[in-house]
Amino acid sequence: MDEARYTADRSPDAVHFCAEDETGRVVCVATVLREAPQWRADVTKGWRIRGMATASDWRGRGAGSAVLRAVFAHVGTSGGGLLWCNARLGAVNFYERAGMATTGEPWEEPVIGPHIVMFTNILEAGS
Ligand SMILES: CC(C)(COP(=O)(O)OP(=O)(O)OC[C@H]1O[C@@H](n2cnc3c(N)ncnc32)[C@H](O)[C@@H]1OP(=O)(O)O)[C@@H](O)C(=O)NCCC(=O)NCCS
Repeated sequence: MDEARYTADRSPDAVHFCAEDETGRVVCVATVLREAPQWRADVTKGWRIRGMATASDWRGRGAGSAVLRAVFAHVGTSGGGLLWCNARLGAVNFYERAGMATTGEPWEEPVIGPHIVMFTNILEAGS
């Protein structure tokens, strides 16, 4: 899952989530960090998901959904707010199933293909 490595991984507020199989092999990863959405000038705080990926032999078995739920829970217990990502078009259904929505128009990302912004508003846990 080297394609899921980013400079922002080392940001002090980046939190990394993973799912492991029964042998301890990491089969799914996602990172969330504080980053305002570039596409909403009026929102100065936000949370960005990066590096969401499941090993090919584990896709479609619920690992991604479980990791994404953990990301949502982390944002909720950290004050909530706007959570967003640049989603591959092939992953739009996956994020929509979790309650996220697309906004704006898709664009072509060099090498990795078409993407679109997706987002959801997470309430502060207990509010
Ligand atoms: C997108 C991605 C992270 C999803 O991870 P995943 O572990 O396959 O996610 P899940 O298994 O929770 O859900 C995937 C699909 O399997 C289905 N599914 C989940 N559990 C299932 C089960 N037990 N039985 C059958 N289907 C199941 C889900 O309904 C979902 O369908 P959908 O894509 O139509 O919403 C993964 O496909 C991936 O790594 N893709 C390549 C990289 C990528 O696109 N990353 C996202 C970048 S923005």
